[in-house]
Amino acid sequence: QQIEHIDADVVVIGAGVAGLSAAPRLVEAGHDVVVLEARERVGGRLWTEVIGGTLLELGGQWVSPDQTALLETVETLGLETFERYRAGESVYVDGAGERIRFTGEQLPVADDTVAEMERLTALLDELVADIGAEEPWAHPRARELDTVSFAAWLAQQSSDEVACRHIAMFIGEAMLTKPAHAFSALQAVLMAASAGSFSNLVDSEFILDRRVVGGLQRVPLTLAERLGERVRTGTPVRRLEHTPDGVVVTSDRVVVRARRAIVAMPPTLIPRIDFQPPLPRRQHQLHQHLSFGLVIKVHAVYDRPFWREDGLSGTAFSPYLLVHEAYDNTNHEDERGTLVGFVSDEHADGVFAMDAEQRRERILADLAAYFGPEAANPVVYYESDWGTEEWTRGAYGASYDLGGLSRYGADQRTPVGPIHWACSDFAGLGFQHVDGGIRSGWAAAADVVAALDASRASVS
Ligand code: FDA
Repeated sequence: QQIEHIDADVVVIGAGVAGLSAAPRLVEAGHDVVVLEARERVGGRLWTEVIGGTLLELGGQWVSPDQTALLETVETLGLETFERYRAGESVYVDGAGERIRFTGEQLPVADDTVAEMERLTALLDELVADIGAEEPWAHPRARELDTVSFAAWLAQQSSDEVACRHIAMFIGEAMLTKPAHAFSALQAVLMAASAGSFSNLVDSEFILDRRVVGGLQRVPLTLAERLGERVRTGTPVRRLEHTPDGVVVTSDRVVVRARRAIVAMPPTLIPRIDFQPPLPRRQHQLHQHLSFGLVIKVHAVYDRPFWREDGLSGTAFSPYLLVHEAYDNTNHEDERGTLVGFVSDEHADGVFAMDAEQRRERILADLAAYFGPEAANPVVYYESDWGTEEWTRGAYGASYDLGGLSRYGADQRTPVGPIHWACSDFAGLGFQHVDGGIRSGWAAAADVVAALDASRASVS
């Protein structure tokens, strides 16, 4: 195969939302840009496919009102959004397996547990307001909160195990997709701060507000369309040689010589690139302290949204079932009804140990526990398995181990010579969400434009 050689001002590695948000800003500033993407498609963790005749969003999909960078992008690209269906009662399954219908945001647990959950929520909201999303590592309490697991921290705050179990679920199973013993209280605060507050994060009315008609992958697809031939898919980057003056980036089909690079990949995959000279000690270390969570996003499609006839919204929670949360995921103006459910962290390990048929039965049994026996017989059933995706290797995102955020966070986006970093996993506001990916792309592009302007000024 013939290798193509290209000269550019900036090479962007990765055509997820982060890379594709950086590139137009560079083009607007008058720079030549090439985007190299490993996969044969753009969008990274945003991926829409028609499966069994229904459009399914296999990766990220929801947009919330705090995600202003994403909302701005959606508007600029002329995309339409629609509200998630949420009319009717939600369902909760308790520790004894009893199904309870409820309305509002507070789960139907014992009154004293509700009071305790409200107290813990207020405590987390205060910490979030005090610590913020942008530099959690810089807060005086950063080390203290980063050296205790979220599970242990909750146990220190409250002896109500049921309250702790539920609060842990909102950040553990539902967001970082790791068990609450595997990440710190500071990491939990960052996750909540990314959405403005813990209250916002746990409010499904807020955080799971809208979707893009045609799927959220329309965002990266449209950005890539506008960038045209600057985006090269099927070009996994294998090697990055750098000097203070520039980079030579080698992918399977293209070699790009540029003045600056933006690496817009999940941090866990960065060590797969052969950097020459190797990255500094600090980057080698910090990349090893991040790891992906694991979650299976399951779609079950039915000939009609039958749960609505029963007065149910499709929203369901239980820390006691494998499917810890589920929602109505019916498409805009679709006759078919779609449910989406999530199986997270160690539960995902458990069902992945089963064969495919057993797993399907087990997961559908949980949907039936929430929505009745009809849920066990969908016309389409699909599991998104991001853990087997070569160019992602988990879901939803990457987070630090205990102590990692306070120890390394300040350096995670520090450029190394001409190399800059962007990714939702390195974001503050919008951390682990599409919004954070866009923000990190914009920030990296601004840094690159400033650096190129400064070098132009020093030459002239
Ligand atoms: P992303 O990983 O998307 O992009 C990186 C790109 O780099 C990929 O395209 C990859 O192929 C490429 N790459 C990797 N190695 C390479 C190499 N060596 N050479 C070239 N290219 C390389 N968010 C949200 O806001 N709302 C939601 O509802 C959800 N829900 C959700 C569900 C599921 C199942 C997932 C997996 C994720 C979400 N998210 C989400 C998270 C959201 O999807 C995610 O934060 C962003 O899409 C990440 O965008 P980035 O561009 O930062 O990374």
